[in-house]
Amino acid sequence: MTTHILQLSDFHLLKNHADELRGVPTADCLTDLLTLVRANYSAADLFVLSGDIAAYGDVEAYHQTRELLADLLPRCVMIPGNHDETDLMRQAFPETIAGSPGPVTFSCDVAGWRMIGLDSHVAGAVHGELCGDQLQWLADEFSQHRDQATLLFMHHPPISVESTWLDRIMLRNANDLTKVLHAAPQVRGIFCGHVHQEFSGSFGAIPVHTTPATAIQFAPHTEELQFDNVPPGFRVIELDGDKFHTHIVRLPELKYPAT
Ligand SMILES: [Fe+2]
Ligand SMILES: [Fe+2]
Repeated sequence: MTTHILQLSDFHLLKNHADELRGVPTADCLTDLLTLVRANYSAADLFVLSGDIAAYGDVEAYHQTRELLADLLPRCVMIPGNHDETDLMRQAFPETIAGSPGPVTFSCDVAGWRMIGLDSHVAGAVHGELCGDQLQWLADEFSQHRDQATLLFMHHPPISVESTWLDRIMLRNANDLTKVLHAAPQVRGIFCGHVHQEFSGSFGAIPVHTTPATAIQFAPHTEELQFDNVPPGFRVIELDGDKFHTHIVRLPELKYPAT
């Protein structure tokens, strides 16, 4: 039986369910996507929420997430994005986020694979960074699970997505991550959010995939922010032995274009 992992990213939820961001009711967008998820992927093994759950770090955004994902929460793991408030995330999801204080990370086994989520959030900044303690934790994870094929999740991509304005706000210390990855040939892929678009590249020999937002989409290959008129979506990852296949699923139409 195929193992499915779903990556949902960049909800950008606001204080109230009906509130809009650039003319887009972000909670309604997430609700529509979750209807699609429940219709076609209700048996997914893991749901990875890869940051920017809140648009402005409001605690209400986390409470809405709890309500909207209620039945799926036991199979959810999450990491923060630059728009999140990690302390409020911790308080809102005590059963999901382990350890305190420190980075909001996760590691778990799925069908014999190791899934690891990293916290690239930097307080008060838009770009991402992985602190030294976390890189040491990651190195320890890799050495303790050397024989397991592994996927990494983090909000900020460690590579260019070929858009000038986004490339300025990526993971700043990708070189430090490279050093840790040298000792981890078991890592099969890196999955990120933050850029609100589908993009595939590689970090050294490791494939990197970014995922559309569940709400507002950014156009690819731009000098500055431009919205894209494609529907919101999420990523499906299928584990197949020690390989994976991945693709994007989008809503059938764009109901709420950003303005
Ligand atoms: Fe975002
Ligand atoms: Fe972000």
